Amino acid sequence: MPCKNKGKEEAPMRHAQISLSPGTGPVPAIDPEPQLGYVLYRSVASPGLEDDDIDRLLRRAQHRNRSLGLTGCLHHENGLFFQWLEGPRAPLFRLLEELRDDFRHVGFTVLDQGTLEARVFDDWDMQFSDRQGASLNDWLARDMDPMEEAQAVGRFLASLRD
Ligand SMILES: Cc1cc2nc3c(=O)[nH]c(=O)nc-3n(C[C@H](O)[C@H](O)[C@H](O)COP(=O)(O)O)c2cc1C
Repeated sequence: MPCKNKGKEEAPMRHAQISLSPGTGPVPAIDPEPQLGYVLYRSVASPGLEDDDIDRLLRRAQHRNRSLGLTGCLHHENGLFFQWLEGPRAPLFRLLEELRDDFRHVGFTVLDQGTLEARVFDDWDMQFSDRQGASLNDWLARDMDPMEEAQAVGRFLASLRD
């Protein structure tokens, strides 16, 4: 997802610490951080949520994500949020529980989740993008092949029947 650079701050780099003593045999493979998970969700911004509220939310989220080792990207467009969150699974899923209950958005829907070999947003405690920077609608329209577009538009129109 293309994101504009807003509020970029240095994310901590995490490396496992090892100490070697002589004659201890082969060095075991080192996992640089606990298993990484990701979650992608969509939600609807609550009525009355202003740009200032989103700025405040973002600043707080960046600070908190940094301390939890989480990274990701939040996109806001036409009253919808799309957020990709990644990091160690325990803090990731704890945050997800809080997000579900946050009054600033409704209709919280997980679109995808899983595990990662490496972070996608390794430099970002929470990158932000909005319609002014990059439009998801435009991007989807541009990126679909004609067959996918025909099927998607057909399904959308059919959903309007009743
Ligand atoms: C769209 C949206 C995205 C959010 N993203 C994050 C996030 O990435 N990290 C985070 O800690 N909180 C995020 N929050 C806020 C959390 O839901 C929750 O309110 C917050 O973590 C609670 O922390 P605090 O009470 O210490 O502010 C987000 C909220 C909304 C509405």
